[in-house]
Amino acid sequence: MTVKTIKLGKFAVCVENLELWQKLDPVIRGRLATVLSQQGVLVFKRQALCESELVVFSRNFGHPEKIVRDDWKSENQPEIIQISNMRDNQGKSIGGLGSGELEWHCDQSYVRVPATGSLLYMVEMPKEPPRTYWANLQLAYQGLSTSIKQKVDGLDVIYDYFVRQSKYDDEPKMSAELRNKTPPVIHPLVNTHPVTGLKSLYLDPSTASQIMGWSKIQSDELFKELVDHSENKEFVYCHHWNIGDVVLWDNGFLMHRRDSFNPASNRLLKRTTLRLPSDIHIVPEGRLVA
Ligand SMILES: [Fe+2]
Repeated sequence: MTVKTIKLGKFAVCVENLELWQKLDPVIRGRLATVLSQQGVLVFKRQALCESELVVFSRNFGHPEKIVRDDWKSENQPEIIQISNMRDNQGKSIGGLGSGELEWHCDQSYVRVPATGSLLYMVEMPKEPPRTYWANLQLAYQGLSTSIKQKVDGLDVIYDYFVRQSKYDDEPKMSAELRNKTPPVIHPLVNTHPVTGLKSLYLDPSTASQIMGWSKIQSDELFKELVDHSENKEFVYCHHWNIGDVVLWDNGFLMHRRDSFNPASNRLLKRTTLRLPSDIHIVPEGRLVA
């Protein structure tokens, strides 16, 4: 069967007739990589993948990275982390992020040169699963007034994993080891796509501490204004999950969030984190706070 792509709203793209456990044809791989780099979200439904197949598929788009959270890692495949509220028979969490609401964020914004690709595979979920939302920050930037564009161009933002972690439920206090692995970093608020030349915001209100040279109050006001604008329906794709769904996205120009769900129900996703190539993707190159 021919591989089909179907637009889901303004930017997300659903890919049909593709079995992700099979080797990907190079021509299709190239087409999908281009779609990912310019549209930002790829959705694949009704998949059935073991962990190694998930990693092999992920390699079609970038290099799978090991993330900073060793405690969320799969025991079998170090490139995979588990996103789950479930616990083992010792009462220990088998993954991260609990069951609370997750506010808008971009994965890895707290890293100097982030691995900007994220892939989620739904394994187990509640009857009424929480939805996940992606906001396209290229479309959002294009929708800003000229005066706001002039205001945000050239600004730098400090990102700190400590700010992010304090918002998770089900989390221990930040360890000294994790603090050492995640010093605060600085990223530009606006980036330019290497292929299309289009500008986009790089916005992670869950992890941003403040804008360089601005007060905390002024920074928070601008973040709020930009988030309020970017979460407008016309810039957002909302995913209604089913078991077997795979969603791959580019954190270089999208932020995402998740609804909360009943903590007594079970939810498990497997995730890979990918170093996407900077010749076709926005890859912020930040610096450490001096
Ligand atoms: Fe995330």
